[in-house]
Amino acid sequence: MPDVLVTGGAGFIGSHTVDGLVEQGYKVRVLDNLEPQVHTSKKITHINPGAEYINGDIRYRKHWIRALEGVEYIIHLAGAVGIAQSFWQVKKYVDVNASGTANLYQAIEEVPKIRSNLRKIVVASSKSCYGEGTYSCDKHGPFNPLQRPIQQLKNHQWEVLCPVCGRQSGPKAIREDKPLQNLNPYSLSKYVTEQLSMDYSYALGIETVAFRYFNVYGSRQSLSNPYTGVMAIFLSRLKNGNPPVIFEDGNQVRDYIHVSDVAAANRLALERGNGVYNLGTGIPTPLKEIATRLAGLNGLDILPHITSDYRPGDNRHDFADNTKLNRDLKVSNFMSLEKGLSELIHWSADQVAVDKFALSESQRKKYLT
Ligand code: UD1
Repeated sequence: MPDVLVTGGAGFIGSHTVDGLVEQGYKVRVLDNLEPQVHTSKKITHINPGAEYINGDIRYRKHWIRALEGVEYIIHLAGAVGIAQSFWQVKKYVDVNASGTANLYQAIEEVPKIRSNLRKIVVASSKSCYGEGTYSCDKHGPFNPLQRPIQQLKNHQWEVLCPVCGRQSGPKAIREDKPLQNLNPYSLSKYVTEQLSMDYSYALGIETVAFRYFNVYGSRQSLSNPYTGVMAIFLSRLKNGNPPVIFEDGNQVRDYIHVSDVAAANRLALERGNGVYNLGTGIPTPLKEIATRLAGLNGLDILPHITSDYRPGDNRHDFADNTKLNRDLKVSNFMSLEKGLSELIHWSADQVAVDKFALSESQRKKYLT
């Protein structure tokens, strides 16, 4: 089987991807810098003995060049993740996500042997590039709104309103051709990754898949990184006996996709697909339901704290239209939320979770209000 380089292969999505590839017989090399915000303990817990590990950083082109030797496929997952944090660490987010990917293509340009070996590239983009979701008004049909005005949020009017008649509208699945709204440095830096990969796919004739990940959850997501997704934050709160804190009213929906489905799609993309794809289940779930289910599965009688406050920059609803994904990659049997949550809870039972919610909130308020 061919050689695959997985950047970020010691992380949450990366380590599951590596496990799947090794199991299928691929020769896997990992490039990972063991980012301390993610790898809070000195001991790395999910190393696959069947893979080769290089401790290196995508911000250095020479690390890429070393890691790319003899490689036929690249799955580029290394990145900095956190929308709010990206505002006060903008340089880091641009360096890692945008320049880090630029270094890959610079290395390909500079070393002819790397280019001649390469057969396909898969990169991680994000649904956050869409900004607000797609909506439909009963009377005026579908539309793609801008961010909700702050005055509307101050009035606790959470739902998106039809721009024609001002009535409340409902969410619709987001298609890949929705106009993008990169509203924060994180989204913009992921969009640079995605667009560079598409530009070079055309220029170099290398087939490339860019996945816009929806809300990925599951085992190995850091429970002590307060800048990560809501599922891990809620679980960390609960494991410390604290109520999950819900912004707005808890009826906002997201598309939660289990990490094993994401790992499988990353692997399948080595064989199928070309272009940009949503990677979500297509199923919307209200946030309140996540908080209550996580508490219940942990045997805890802890109700979420619904703040009726808002985080500026949050979109109201989003979930994927995955028609294109199903058509080209033949990915459709996603893990149910019920099964995915029990996998997460089972794994988390003996994990250390440091609840840093208050710290991240105080930082956010210091920098962003
Ligand atoms: C998240 C990630 C984004 C990633 C995307 C797709 C962050 C902060 N967000 O976006 O990077 O690209 O998934 O995988 O990195 N919420 C609470 N309480 C909390 C935390 C969040 O109520 O303690 C709410 C938010 O206000 C929002 C919803 O939960 O309404 C989802 O938030 P979050 O997990 O940050 O996800 P996204 O913004 O969807």
